[in-house]
Amino acid sequence: MASRLGALVLLLAMVAAWLAADVAGAVGPVFNVTDFGAVADGKTDDSRAFLRAWMKACKTPGRPAVVVPRGGSYLLHPLVFRGPCRGYMEVRVAGVLRAPAGLGAFRDCREWVHFSNVDGLLVTGGGTFDGRGATAWALNECPRKRDCKLLPTSIKLGRVRNATITDVTSLDSKFFHVTVAGSHGVRIHRVSIRAPRDSPNTDGVHIQGSSDVRVTDSAVATGDDCVSVGPGTSDVLVSGVTCGPGHGISVGSLGRYPGEEDVRRLRVANCTIAGTSNGVRIKTWRGGSRPTAVSGLVFEDIVMRKVRNPIIIDQEYCPYASCRRESEQRPSAVRISDVKFRNIRGVSATQVAVKLSCSEASPCRGLELRDIDLRYVRRGVATQSQCAHVAGGVVGGTLVPPSCI
Ligand SMILES: *[C@@H]1O[C@H](CO)[C@@H](O)[C@H](O)[C@H]1NC(C)=O
Ligand SMILES: *[C@@H]1O[C@H](CO)[C@@H](O)[C@H](O)[C@H]1NC(C)=O
Ligand SMILES: *[C@@H]1O[C@H](CO)[C@@H](O)[C@H](O)[C@H]1NC(C)=O
Repeated sequence: MASRLGALVLLLAMVAAWLAADVAGAVGPVFNVTDFGAVADGKTDDSRAFLRAWMKACKTPGRPAVVVPRGGSYLLHPLVFRGPCRGYMEVRVAGVLRAPAGLGAFRDCREWVHFSNVDGLLVTGGGTFDGRGATAWALNECPRKRDCKLLPTSIKLGRVRNATITDVTSLDSKFFHVTVAGSHGVRIHRVSIRAPRDSPNTDGVHIQGSSDVRVTDSAVATGDDCVSVGPGTSDVLVSGVTCGPGHGISVGSLGRYPGEEDVRRLRVANCTIAGTSNGVRIKTWRGGSRPTAVSGLVFEDIVMRKVRNPIIIDQEYCPYASCRRESEQRPSAVRISDVKFRNIRGVSATQVAVKLSCSEASPCRGLELRDIDLRYVRRGVATQSQCAHVAGGVVGGTLVPPSCI
């Protein structure tokens, strides 16, 4: 009996020690922005205080944390949190970060909060990045105009490795909410992203030139794509995301600029898409000469609720008059192959629930449609599928609408 009790006490002591070690490991030296002069009144420019806190933390080994306390709002002009740093950087935002109104403070900056060249980063804390897009959306003239001014992205991860953004909210970005570029090993988890349904180019998460990126268990409601995957991207998982309103989950646009790299291995699974203009979409511009490849894509276990184009490949993408003039007759050179749509069900807001509009110059190859059940919002009217330039593929299981492959 005594030895059993002793063993139990020993076990408890070990658990307690392990918990303490874990907490100690997770909480390193704290760099509280208020100690560096930040004033949480939403009016004072706190950029310098934040940068000084970051620079000090960045020189510290272990797990330094830049802490933004709750209960206030911190006005930040555009700023770059630059690495490399000595330790694993945590930025714990419990308060509200507030972007400047309009574009005056941005000059040539394409980003508001930019993490650059950091290996090992955690952004968390339950706080909010408020991009105050409503003060700038009316100035969004791109890409309709040449020489136009693009609005700034709220949060950019540029050349970042091993980074996690979790338990934060991004609100009303001026342009994209989060951009991941030239990065590797990025986790975006339990993030809430919101902007009005009519706000221009407010994509939720845009990924390009990056690999090993996961967007999971997050809610995205904006005026543009919930998640968009651009050129040079591979090994992306989008899972447990609720999307809408917005333009859906998109690969592209591709094929507009020379030198674009391929898109390979994307899995979109277990998502709910509601009230959007598209569900899952691949879009490539008309024209272009580079045969960028898009391959190894899986879209599965997705529920659509009143989505206008639940499944769409659009190789005729050309929303502006400028591209209509430049390349009126030239089909897209982007090659799409090995794309699987599996277990996608729900309600389509238009009759054409499946539209596979591929390029005359490079027909889609290796498409799969399996267990598709998409009903028209009006009962008793059947949905349809449309195919153009689809060079074969495989189908199986339930197929509503009937396949055109
Ligand atoms: C940061 O500083 C503020 C103001 O001094 C304080 O209220 C807050 O508790 C501090 N937070 C941490 C985590 O040290
Ligand atoms: C990412 O950083 C954490 C914290 O330092 C570390 O434990 C983990 O091994 C790193 N992961 C990779 C893939 O480098
Ligand atoms: C699917 O996503 C929901 C959240 O949207 C999550 O609760 C659930 O665990 C996920 N299921 C799987 C199998 O990943």
